[in-house]
Amino acid sequence: MAKASASFTCTACGASFGKWSGKCDACGAWNSIVEEAPLSAGPKALGQRGRAIALTNLDTEEPPPPRFSSGIEELDRVLGGGLVPASAILVGGDPGIGKSTLLLQATASFARRGLKCLYISGEEAAAQVRMRAQRLGLTDAPVQLGAETALRDILTTLDNERPGLAIIDSIQTMWLDTVEAAPGSVSQVRAAAHELVSFAKRRGVAIILVGHVTKEGQIAGPRVVEHMVDTVLYFEGERGHQFRILRAVKNRFGPADEIGVFEMTGNGLQEVINPSALFLSSRDAPAPGSAVFAGIEGSRPVLTEIQALVAPSNLGTPRRTVVGLDSGRLSTILAVLEARVGIPFTGLDVFLNVAGGMRVTEPAADLAVAAALLSAREDVAIPPDMVLFGEISLSGALRPAGQTENRLKEAAKLGFTQATIPKGSKSTGSAGISLREMADLAAFTGEMFGA
Ligand code: TYD
Ligand code: MG
Repeated sequence: MAKASASFTCTACGASFGKWSGKCDACGAWNSIVEEAPLSAGPKALGQRGRAIALTNLDTEEPPPPRFSSGIEELDRVLGGGLVPASAILVGGDPGIGKSTLLLQATASFARRGLKCLYISGEEAAAQVRMRAQRLGLTDAPVQLGAETALRDILTTLDNERPGLAIIDSIQTMWLDTVEAAPGSVSQVRAAAHELVSFAKRRGVAIILVGHVTKEGQIAGPRVVEHMVDTVLYFEGERGHQFRILRAVKNRFGPADEIGVFEMTGNGLQEVINPSALFLSSRDAPAPGSAVFAGIEGSRPVLTEIQALVAPSNLGTPRRTVVGLDSGRLSTILAVLEARVGIPFTGLDVFLNVAGGMRVTEPAADLAVAAALLSAREDVAIPPDMVLFGEISLSGALRPAGQTENRLKEAAKLGFTQATIPKGSKSTGSAGISLREMADLAAFTGEMFGA
């Protein structure tokens, strides 16, 4: 048999190459390409006879598979309405963010509702997992524990036990004896994930894989696993904040972009049912530089406070520091303010922040960002009972955002009485909020700040 040749894989995006290079051609990352050991004589793929089914012959009478609810509302929503049997889910996140805590709580919750669950930890001994369960008050839940890293043993256990759900914490600790590479390497992670996912589909076991994300690229990130699974969730949060956000970035069985909000406490993660109230609860007295954005995260409206600080700079290139927003978006908004409204930020340091550790990706946040920047620069506070939303185009025009009514209703619920929105927004006025409709950024700036 010809010797299998080695291949090289980018740990950032998973692209493979025939030779090593310093920069990945696919994603542009530097120093992320590692050699991948060839798959040596692995288990022979079970030859399945090829068979094609005409799309029209598919049995359409079959009802959608029942979903299993965890009883943790924030988690169920992110999954698209509960766990789909025999699905494969990846939960990624920084080390220490709370993945093991979340999944142990979820497992216990599923188990209490009658789903047979197996929690396999490759990072902690069974006694440590039990100690954590004690701290979380979960020792009465009928969960089976395993502390194991050899995939062959795990698959045997799964085959014997046939649980409804198996948690693998984490995929980076798992190893297959047929792959000549260290656990955590791209080839091991990929091979282990592949074995587990195909087992899940074959035997009808739902599988949740935990994956650490590391920026250094030393350990294969969960990126290489993303395309193999049905659902990819990321667990994020700012260090120093107790809020954690579970975000669906891919979901075959539900909407992507859905979020679940949790708070890390001494007794584990608590659900946050009304995130708007939470993100706004710590609001200081109305001060210049603060604007409230009425956003939509997945299927529900979430209000967040955008904070800006503008100060004279003593640097040649003034600082642009952004937390919770895209820094490219800030540059664009600053450029539009300068070119279309005539308000430059040259010689000024700009700091922008979304309060509470939230991350905002919607373009509709533009208007609130511009408002916070102008408010900080002009030292004029925005009325504390006002929300804003709308996308800013490069011409300086304001573009209506989707779901205007939902945003306004959420704002009304939290005691806001006025909203500044783009002209042409579709509102029925049923939210009972007084609206100021603006055609462009110049009109907004003139009316709001007299600039
Ligand atoms: P962990 O779930 O181990 O993170 P991961 O699996 O993502 O690496 O969580 C680790 C952090 O959570 C740790 O710093 C301690 C904190 N924590 C709490 O604050 N409260 C708790 O009840 C638990 C179990 C952990
Ligand atoms: Mg962990």
